[in-house]
Amino acid sequence: MYQVIARKYRPQSFAGVVNQEHVKNTLENAIAQNRIAHGYIFSGQRGTGKTTIARILARCLNCIQGPTATPCGECASCKEITAGGTVDVIEIDAASNRGINEMRELRENVRYQPARDRYKIFIIDEAHQITNEAFNALLKTIEEPPPWAVFVLCTTEAHKIPATIASRCQHFSFRSVDFEDLIQRMAWICQQEGIEADPEALAILAAAGEGSVRDSLSALDQAIACCGDKLNAAEVRALPGAFSLESLEKVTQALGNGDSRSMLEVVDELERNGQNLQHFSRELSRYFRNLLVTRVAGADTRMVAASAAQREKLAAIAGSFSEEDLTRYLQLSLDIFKDLQYSLQPRFHLEIGLVRLVQAGRLLPIEQALAGLGPAVRTSPSALPAQAPPAAPRMAPPPATGREVAPPRAPGPSPFELDRVKKAGTRPPEPQSSGANALAPQAEAPPMMAGDPRERLHAWLHEKGNTHLADAVENSSFTITGGDLNIVSPKSYALYFQDRGFEDAVREVFGRPLRMKLITGEAAAGPAPISLAASSKTEAEDEVTVRALANPEVRHFREVFGGEIRKVRNLKE
Ligand SMILES: Nc1ncnc2c1ncn2[C@@H]1O[C@H](COP(=O)(O)OP(=O)(O)OP(=O)(O)O)[C@@H](O)[C@H]1O
Ligand SMILES: [Mg+2]
Ligand SMILES: [Zn+2]
Repeated sequence: MYQVIARKYRPQSFAGVVNQEHVKNTLENAIAQNRIAHGYIFSGQRGTGKTTIARILARCLNCIQGPTATPCGECASCKEITAGGTVDVIEIDAASNRGINEMRELRENVRYQPARDRYKIFIIDEAHQITNEAFNALLKTIEEPPPWAVFVLCTTEAHKIPATIASRCQHFSFRSVDFEDLIQRMAWICQQEGIEADPEALAILAAAGEGSVRDSLSALDQAIACCGDKLNAAEVRALPGAFSLESLEKVTQALGNGDSRSMLEVVDELERNGQNLQHFSRELSRYFRNLLVTRVAGADTRMVAASAAQREKLAAIAGSFSEEDLTRYLQLSLDIFKDLQYSLQPRFHLEIGLVRLVQAGRLLPIEQALAGLGPAVRTSPSALPAQAPPAAPRMAPPPATGREVAPPRAPGPSPFELDRVKKAGTRPPEPQSSGANALAPQAEAPPMMAGDPRERLHAWLHEKGNTHLADAVENSSFTITGGDLNIVSPKSYALYFQDRGFEDAVREVFGRPLRMKLITGEAAAGPAPISLAASSKTEAEDEVTVRALANPEVRHFREVFGGEIRKVRNLKE
């Protein structure tokens, strides 16, 4: 009869168990010193050896040559435990025996001496499923057990074991198994089975288990069923459920190129190959996690489970993204994973998610954005010339999507202004430069800005003969931040700005619709752009505010970053 590899190769002694050294050593010592506890909790990830070690412990205790840390494997007791239980080693699946009646029965059973062996050992799997009353029925027994009774509660969810029980047991938490050790174990099993597997193939299968030995061995089973006794990486990757790193790498490539189209192609290919999209999204998260960890901790960190060849690739790819980028991608990929869990339309969600990854794009490091602002706020000597757009950190030519914070150019005079100036026969105003000009003493500033929104609106409305609105504009002040037109207007004029005519004027004058944000208050007289409700300010404060807001660099900064200025403080005071 065919037996699955995971069961066939269940270790029969501590020596065969991969990792879990802390558990093995403690138990071995306890056995050697004859200090056996009556209650144990084995908790940890699925498939990491909890049931296995519970059975080994049973053998150690009941072997005819025992108690010993190295059971003989020959005696009736050893053999029967391997085969799945004896009268004195009782395995209970709490998933199906979780109620109070079962626990009462168990309590009865405990009272009788072992039929043949030294100890009566109760291995309770999925112990967290036991109901609270049922646990209560057990409490007394676990607290004062007869000398022959040993309980081993196995669970993946230790926190669900009531504290009353937990405090009466020795607790071992099992950790997920190290990648290298797992590969060694799998290589050994392949050798036993006469399977030739190349290391890369084993690495793929080992990684598929995410630290669970059982899951990795199941993947190995599946690979053998599909590919026969020669396993190579390419074939293993093609298994349903296994993902080629290729499609994952395609995702990072598309990210690097800002290429949404390739992202959609990745999804299409997965669909056509009948791949499970949820599984893919989980792999994707793991992939970004590995990239991030590689980026932070270096290519040969223990924290990443990968073969040497994979590590090299990971490091190369991780190097082309910043830590911040990778963090963002990991977060987004986790969101995709979450979305896909409950989605009836996994394909759509995956598509949205991947395109969103592209759109999340790459943010410009703040240093670079600042470097583009001008000499006064440069942060490093290597910063780019003030006018040159800072190079975005791409690994490929920037795509046309233009999602990154576009490095702003110094604003030139508006076309309307040029036109008006031409008519008036004066020189067009100089583009606002952040060069030497920017450092000019502010005493000379601010001249009426060429592109002052108030002035422009007023001129346009005047020309159209809309004198009421022109009046309102004249008595208010305006600043534009991003898509917002901030208006500070006295109450008596406020209503005018809700007029359709004003909306039209804005669209005409600025060439785009702007969202209006109206603050009622006394607008400071004069041409200086003001975004604060100034009425409550003292004269001195006002002067500082006006000067600060008129500063070309401050203005430039606000054009780049938008935002709102709440308070201006003079640091010298
Ligand atoms: N640490 C390990 N060393 C070697 N093999 C292991 C180890 N852990 C698990 N295995 C393999 O995986 C199989 C399942 O292990 P086991 O039943 O002990 O897992 P478990 O931790 O009890 O999982 P679950 O929480 O799902 O019950 C074993 O038969 C064995 O082949
Ligand atoms: Mg188990
Ligand atoms: Zn024995």
